[in-house]
Amino acid sequence: MDDRVISQEALNAEEERVDQGVRPLSFDDYIGQEQVKRNLRVFIEAAKMREESLDHVLLYGPPGLGKTTLAAIIANEMNVNIKTTSGPAIERPGDLAAILTTLEPGDVLFIDEIHRLNRAVEEVLYPAMEDFCLDIVIGKGTEAKSVRLDLPPFTLVGATTRAGMLSAPLRDRFGVLSRLEYYSLDELARIVQRSSQLLSFDMEQASAFELARRSRATPRIANRLLRRVRDFAQVNGVTSIAVDETSEALEQLQVDRLGLDPNDVRLLTMIAHKFNGGPVGVETMAAMVGEETETIEEVYEPYLLQIGFLQRTPRGRLLTPLAYEHFGWASQGEV
Ligand SMILES: Nc1ncnc2c1ncn2[C@@H]1O[C@H](COP(=O)(O)OP(=O)(O)OP(=O)(O)O)[C@@H](O)[C@H]1O
Ligand SMILES: [Mg+2]
Repeated sequence: MDDRVISQEALNAEEERVDQGVRPLSFDDYIGQEQVKRNLRVFIEAAKMREESLDHVLLYGPPGLGKTTLAAIIANEMNVNIKTTSGPAIERPGDLAAILTTLEPGDVLFIDEIHRLNRAVEEVLYPAMEDFCLDIVIGKGTEAKSVRLDLPPFTLVGATTRAGMLSAPLRDRFGVLSRLEYYSLDELARIVQRSSQLLSFDMEQASAFELARRSRATPRIANRLLRRVRDFAQVNGVTSIAVDETSEALEQLQVDRLGLDPNDVRLLTMIAHKFNGGPVGVETMAAMVGEETETIEEVYEPYLLQIGFLQRTPRGRLLTPLAYEHFGWASQGEV
């Protein structure tokens, strides 16, 4: 039990170290998300021409698609500093005030998991976003008075995997709303090749595609699998990896040809065999695999919906014929 926790931490540390070497720093290095990039480039260019701060930007979409990376790129392209925090880290209005008052004109304040800001903090954020000012209360009881502090103009970049959980007043204060999409096979293969070059490791094009195919349309997963495949290659004493070896390494990692891992397979198998294909509620799905409902909704489900294995219905989630076909199961009703 503890072992798992430790190795998970070790893995994250390694992930972070490698990631620093491959994380794109400019729009030119940031592959895919063409629509989002095109818009942001225009808004950044225009803000620079007017010598103003960029309007507040909300980035949303499933985990690992590049929201944090994009926030840093926005600051780079604007030639400003970025200060990073997260919704749960800002506990009290004072915590937010402390961050806001250290900003320099034009700076980017990046708030990750912004849907997790509490109400009191959000209320301090509204005038800060809208009028670049802070209303703080000094004194207590009848002596209390509100003082208005001016802030430098800044850009709030918020990121969330759950745009639907953002309060309407907060959402309305963002001038730019950008939804990140899952990556195409071609884009992911390019990401894999770029990362492998940066890691001084040669990947045949076919290998890059094979790895991309199994990466759940997600760059973070592609980079993670790449590191594992690189380990296999290293141990086998080769500096370049062919497609067969890539497939073999990925099979050993138990990632199937659609990127489904043993957890996905377990979940889908249970829906098929225990619930006759559904519909099943998310809470039930969470209980089946021992995960939080939130994890099902944020991590498991979006990709399964994307590849058409699950379908959302008012009564719950339904397994599709495509899923039955993939696993070679008899179709619904015959199981
Ligand atoms: N467009 C891209 N091109 C190349 N690499 C990318 C791209 N997007 C993301 N990556 C890589 O994938 C990794 C994951 O991206 P990032 O941490 O920005 O995702 P995220 O959307 O912030 O995820 P989370 O929701 O979990 O915070 C990055 O470290 C980066 O190396
Ligand atoms: Mg992030």
